[in-house]
Amino acid sequence: MKTTSVLSAHLIDEIKALPARYPQPRSAVMPALDLAQEELGYLTPEAMTEVATALQLDAGYVEGVATFYTLFHLEPIGKHRFYMCTNLSCTLRGAEELVEHLRGAIGVHEAGEVSKDGLFSYEEVECMGACEYAPMCRVDHRYHYDLTAEKVDGLVAERRSPAAAAPLSSSPLSPTLPPERGEGDKPKRAPKKKKADG
Ligand code: FES
Repeated sequence: MKTTSVLSAHLIDEIKALPARYPQPRSAVMPALDLAQEELGYLTPEAMTEVATALQLDAGYVEGVATFYTLFHLEPIGKHRFYMCTNLSCTLRGAEELVEHLRGAIGVHEAGEVSKDGLFSYEEVECMGACEYAPMCRVDHRYHYDLTAEKVDGLVAERRSPAAAAPLSSSPLSPTLPPERGEGDKPKRAPKKKKADG
């Protein structure tokens, strides 16, 4: 009987090719889960099973990785997720105000809430290793530096209407630095979820 995959054939091929890039093939599990999440929006049990099959790994191991890292989402989230750094350097440079501004811009009241149009959600995260460029955030696999309310508005507008908005300066997670900054420390770490209050 023919079964239907939740991941596209193209993506499964991409995932199968990942282990060749790493000394330890199982190191491909995180980028593979990241790809699956990017395609589906969040990781379903079926998606995790398909990732395990594509990587020839134990399904329990793959699920263990997916449930350990807060970077992976097991429930629906906004299509575009803002990871707002509110650690010390970013907070000293206005991160809290930017989070409040973002809430208004996307129309949500709290972290984790999905906007009515399904496009956005956000969470506050610990330092992403780019303090020199504070305040900063990650959206859709890219870091955005030296944030202002106007830049946040631009990031939101860009995603509401990609064709209409001019692209903003950013760096991918395997980063290059913002052109105006020259060489220096590069952001390397994936965001760690901020501890809940109380
Ligand atoms: S405190 Fe925000 S990147 Fe370090």
